[in-house]
Amino acid sequence: MDAKTEELRAAHDVLAEFYAVRLAGALDRMPLERALLGLFCDLTLAADLGSSVADVGCGTGRLAPYLAGRGLRPRGFDLSPGMIQVARRDHPGFGFDVADLRELPVEDASLAGVVCWYSLMYLAPACRPAAFGELARVVKPGGYLVTAFKAGDSQVRRGGRSTGLGVEFDVYWLSPGEMEQRVTGAGFATVFWGGRPPEGQEGSPQGYLLAQRS
Ligand SMILES: C[S@@+](CC[C@H](N)C(=O)[O-])C[C@H]1O[C@@H](n2cnc3c(N)ncnc32)[C@H](O)[C@@H]1O
Repeated sequence: MDAKTEELRAAHDVLAEFYAVRLAGALDRMPLERALLGLFCDLTLAADLGSSVADVGCGTGRLAPYLAGRGLRPRGFDLSPGMIQVARRDHPGFGFDVADLRELPVEDASLAGVVCWYSLMYLAPACRPAAFGELARVVKPGGYLVTAFKAGDSQVRRGGRSTGLGVEFDVYWLSPGEMEQRVTGAGFATVFWGGRPPEGQEGSPQGYLLAQRS
């Protein structure tokens, strides 16, 4: 594991309990995010490719109950063993495993869809083609990808400091144009893109992209 990935993993091990508390019930208060995830669920089921999906960079596993409630069978992957430990504890009905999204332990074209909810923002530019290629590898033709990200100028920033937990790591507020290019370049076609201004304690606008595997 390279030094940046190790820094990111170690930081998220420290952040796992903090996120579990801070994000508990957050989806209930976010109708726009629920609506987009719900659209992903509906389109994925309508594609008739099965209901097996991956939540890639699943963190504390908080999305799994929502995805399952909408008819999908999610499993979660995350770089951070600390996050996976919390996800298994808080959502025991689901499968969660440690894995890097650039090397998923999943067969080619075996998933009806992938969710990458605020988990693609840590990739250095040089890693992005391989990462998006890996997402395309695991999704069946006709399946879907949905992603949420901090939207900005794609410049690197240092994240984590505001938590006061003594961690920091590289994070990129990604340009929606670049995200769309990466996704289409990997073999997906855009279905929906959008964004919204920051709310509450959020420091950036948020971007959303839903795409279908060609
Ligand atoms: C901001 S959290 C979001 C967690 C979850 N998706 C959510 O919405 O609550 C970002 C997560 O992405 C994970 N992550 C970052 N880079 C990753 C990678 N290369 N492979 C797998 N997980 C990664 C982090 O460990 C962290 O748990």
